[in-house]
Amino acid sequence: MAAPSDLAFDPWDPAFVADPYPAYAELREQGRVRYFEPTDQWLVAHHADVSALLRDRRLGRTYQHRFGHEEFGRTPPPPEHEPFHTLNDHGMLDLEPPDHTRIRRLVSKAFTPRTVERLRPYVERLAGELVDGLVAAGGGDLLRDVAEPLPVAVIAEMLGIPESDRAPLRPWSADICGMYELNPSEEAAAKAVRASVEFSDYLRDLIAERRKNPGDDLISGLIAAHDEGDRLTEQEMISTCVLLLNAGHEATVNSTVNGWWALFRHPDQLAALRADHSLVPTAVEELMRYDTPLQLFERWVLDEIEIDGQVIPRGAEIAMLFGSANHDPAVFADPSRLDLARRDNPHISFSAGIHYCIGAPLARIELAASMTALLDRAPTLRLAAEPVRKPNFVIRGLEGLEVEVA
Ligand code: HEM
Repeated sequence: MAAPSDLAFDPWDPAFVADPYPAYAELREQGRVRYFEPTDQWLVAHHADVSALLRDRRLGRTYQHRFGHEEFGRTPPPPEHEPFHTLNDHGMLDLEPPDHTRIRRLVSKAFTPRTVERLRPYVERLAGELVDGLVAAGGGDLLRDVAEPLPVAVIAEMLGIPESDRAPLRPWSADICGMYELNPSEEAAAKAVRASVEFSDYLRDLIAERRKNPGDDLISGLIAAHDEGDRLTEQEMISTCVLLLNAGHEATVNSTVNGWWALFRHPDQLAALRADHSLVPTAVEELMRYDTPLQLFERWVLDEIEIDGQVIPRGAEIAMLFGSANHDPAVFADPSRLDLARRDNPHISFSAGIHYCIGAPLARIELAASMTALLDRAPTLRLAAEPVRKPNFVIRGLEGLEVEVA
């Protein structure tokens, strides 16, 4: 991969990916906005700027609602990537109003704090069962045994994906998410395309089945909304389900294992948490700030903007560094300190503006449930081996987290 410029930013360097926070501090010192040639993006690293840009309607997750590719100065993706783009481009995360508003309104009914609160007993019971399994085995991989099965089961249950069909969900999701890394390789693209085709075919069949035999699940709900007011096309339904299934677990898995790894590296903080479980809500927020699970989000410049005197023209791309924003000393006192009792914590890990994470209330319930179950049922939990980090920077996490329970 091309060597980056003079900037303290090298998302392909394993040392940077392992701990990007010191480099972010340097980057923030270097100014409010810097051009990064290897990805042809403008990097924004300060909390105030990231927060403002996420709400700025001159930027968009897509430009295709306003401009053609050539008109916007961009080359269209190669035709062989088409299945990935068809799937991705019809999900609400990659749409702008009015399509975004229409789809988000429909889906958000399933994610209001009150609706999600009703899932809490189920989530807590499942977290307890998973942790009991880990304890009975004397330990294991926290990612494989607890962090991953919990959110996958919850979102699959909400959508009504039968248990027997769930095994390929994780590999499909991982392959599709490979496309969200910076400058994905052809190999990553080929995997994403294959997964997009298989995942879409699976959901098309499931939607057809639910159309015949509706159930008490989100897919049936979306079909009903579709049939009543013709408000979701078949493709939008498929894309919405894939987005919910992928977004519904990728970041939660990484938040759980990144969080526990941070706890193991801060035994004083872990001891304080073990002594006082009322710290769980602030601990969940602090761990998401301290080691941000999704490091970078992009926006297209739809209408020229100016940041600190630098004009950024239409057609350019901005890369907002969430992990850096979450460590900005202008907002967070002593940002490199893990403080599970931190109260003033306006972290940006769930984004802001119209694409603010629709699943945030559910994610918070899941993270608190697994943390509480691990504190209650595995009080002697400890690290068994130094974890191996995934090479990914954008969706940043560990390959696994081996633990022991004495
Ligand atoms: C710790 C866990 C999670 C984190 C850190 C997270 C983070 C995010 C972020 C940063 C965005 C917006 C990206 C942008 O502005 O470009 C987002 C959007 C979204 N998230 Fe989450 N998320 C998490 C869990 C979930 C869960 C559990 C679900 C669903 C069950 C979910 C569903 C979504 C959806 C559908 C969107 C798109 C919203 C829109 O475009 O309007 N997320 N998430």
